[in-house]
Amino acid sequence: MTAKLYFRKILVPVDGSHSCLHAKMLAALIAKKFQSKVTVIHVVTHELMHPELKAQYRLPPSILHEIENWYLQAGRKIIRNAEELFREEGIEVDARLVTYEDPAETALQLVKEEGYDLVVIGNRAKNQAERFSLGSVTEKVARHAECPVLIVKQKPKITKMLAAIDGSEHADKALEYAVQLAQKHGAKITLLHVEEAKLLRLEPKAIEGIGERILSDAATKIEEVDFGKRLEFGSPAETIIKVAKKENYDLIVVGSRGLSSVKRFFLGSVSDDVSMHARCSVLIVR
Ligand SMILES: Nc1ncnc2c1ncn2[C@@H]1O[C@H](COP(=O)(O)OP(=O)(O)OP(=O)(O)O)[C@@H](O)[C@H]1O
Ligand SMILES: [Mg+2]
Repeated sequence: MTAKLYFRKILVPVDGSHSCLHAKMLAALIAKKFQSKVTVIHVVTHELMHPELKAQYRLPPSILHEIENWYLQAGRKIIRNAEELFREEGIEVDARLVTYEDPAETALQLVKEEGYDLVVIGNRAKNQAERFSLGSVTEKVARHAECPVLIVKQKPKITKMLAAIDGSEHADKALEYAVQLAQKHGAKITLLHVEEAKLLRLEPKAIEGIGERILSDAATKIEEVDFGKRLEFGSPAETIIKVAKKENYDLIVVGSRGLSSVKRFFLGSVSDDVSMHARCSVLIVR
């Protein structure tokens, strides 16, 4: 596959928040390198604007109208700002304002209907007290989107990437994406495999051998990128988050699933924990 095909169409849901500014900037960085087409969407939501709910509030129509206009105007401004940012970077951009719908559902449906290759989204709108966790829209999109999702949590940068590898096909695919991004951005990749401590108690040497093997297999898939390998022992999610934080990685890349045969959830527990708690941006590949 040629590089361009990885990120032909990028969807960027925007809400005018600080984290969405970083998301727009990171989306622009990627779109420039891959000559992607970008679609920005903003969903204007307020329960007072919902046709069914409007009836329930006993506010005079003139006030309702004013509130509605205020939200629409704010929405238009958000979408215009986003459109400008991409246009100024010379990126082909399509901007859409949607009203009354659920923002996550709108994004998920667009991905399905229009076949996006990537969704780039900020981690949360409000609640700066929990700076690194995910807002409900981001969480829903990350879990259910049919394409890779890049959750942007910090300054837009792709220089130091951590690819979490468990030997699964999903992780291999995630690495494929990481390599594309690293090639275009001149970034370095560290392959990280974490062996669970509980297995280690059984047969330390053998387990270490398996870990080394998983890492060297993954390494054969890397071309034209500076990379390193790293084997750790402990809880996978916790260790991935800790290493990324301690060594200042910009981006963690994980598969949406791993080795588990249990398919109860939309995301594996490691990708779920990492996307929820890491301090840096996270790319979930599926
Ligand atoms: N031990 C590990 N070391 C490094 N990365 C891992 C490890 N386990 C999982 N990952 C990363 O997380 C991704 C998702 O795997 P995860 O374990 O979350 O899903 P799963 O195995 O399908 O489900 P679960 O383990 O929760 O039952 C993998 O593609 C890989 O990128
Ligand atoms: Mg697993």
